[in-house]
Amino acid sequence: DISAEEQQFNDLIAQDSRIEPRDWMPEAYRKTLIRQIAQHAHSEIIGMQPESNWILRAPSLKRKAILIAKVQDEAGHGLYLYSAAQTLGVGRDEMTEQLIAGTARYSSIFNYATPTWADMGSIGWLVDGAAICNQVPLCRASYGPYGRAMVRICKEESFHQRQGFEILLELMNGTPEQRQMAQESVNRWYWPALMMFGPPDDDSPNSARSMAWKIKRFSNDELRRRFVGMLVPQAEVLGLTLPDPDLTWNEEKQAYDMGQPDWDEFHEVLAGRGQMNAQRMQRRRDAHDEGAWVREAAAAYAARQSATTER
Ligand code: 3HC
Repeated sequence: DISAEEQQFNDLIAQDSRIEPRDWMPEAYRKTLIRQIAQHAHSEIIGMQPESNWILRAPSLKRKAILIAKVQDEAGHGLYLYSAAQTLGVGRDEMTEQLIAGTARYSSIFNYATPTWADMGSIGWLVDGAAICNQVPLCRASYGPYGRAMVRICKEESFHQRQGFEILLELMNGTPEQRQMAQESVNRWYWPALMMFGPPDDDSPNSARSMAWKIKRFSNDELRRRFVGMLVPQAEVLGLTLPDPDLTWNEEKQAYDMGQPDWDEFHEVLAGRGQMNAQRMQRRRDAHDEGAWVREAAAAYAARQSATTER
């Protein structure tokens, strides 16, 4: 027999209600949420690096302003998500230390290089597009603070996806070299973007419980397929080819049959052996060291403030 608290937790989940920070929850529920929300936050913070590579080299002031706004949004998403994770009892410093130490996961996608301007288009269109596909269902996650954080984040993501689409559209309406640069970029980002949804369902150890607890609403493969279904008509408008020779419409399934990402590459990136893992971690560590004086000053100011108010 289970405790009254656990029964209440199970009822709230069964009724599709929210679990709030003050509610009783199974330790495993708390742990998997800390794992996922912290990882999501780390992804947003590391995710600023690929795009910041082009802020000083954007082709126009308009593009520079848009890119700065987008990177700033990602920073805000990260802080939003760290705050959501903190409601579960994990400290901000603890999560930061895990990232700095290299023991925390962040999304594989941010370990890829951004050698051309077209990558800013592919990241917006493919990476933020995939993020929207993954994050809209998370707005209904059973844990209140996470679901509510997602609502705000999803609104900003649609601007991110649209500006990426527009960059690619401009390039595809440009010179043959610009068209070639756009297609070459999509060829590099398409498969890593599909890996953002996680491993295949039969290789996804967290999915069953995460779906039972209504954290994950759709399986990894289901969202991946849904995302590709959204991309195909947009690729046609752009005049871009999606680099999957097995991509074909399945009338009977009313969905696309598609090839598989290179899961060996996925596991290599997760093991820290991707194109840019070392650079991303080094940059994050440097930023932490360079920012130490700000943290110290803020702490000293806070101490002085509380001392004066205590008098
Ligand atoms: N990159 C890194 N690790 C990944 C991964 C990826 N693309 N996909 C899966 N993994 C990890 C999981 O974390 C898990 O490892 P762990 O148990 O050590 O944490 C393991 O691979 C097995 O995967 P599962 O499917 O069992 O794990 P989940 O049930 O957690 O599903 C997920 C993975 C779909 C990514 C889920 O965690 C999720 O929805 N997370 C929230 C969304 C998120 O983190 N998005 C990252 C992109 S960041 C972003 O969108 C920024 C935007 O502004 C561009």
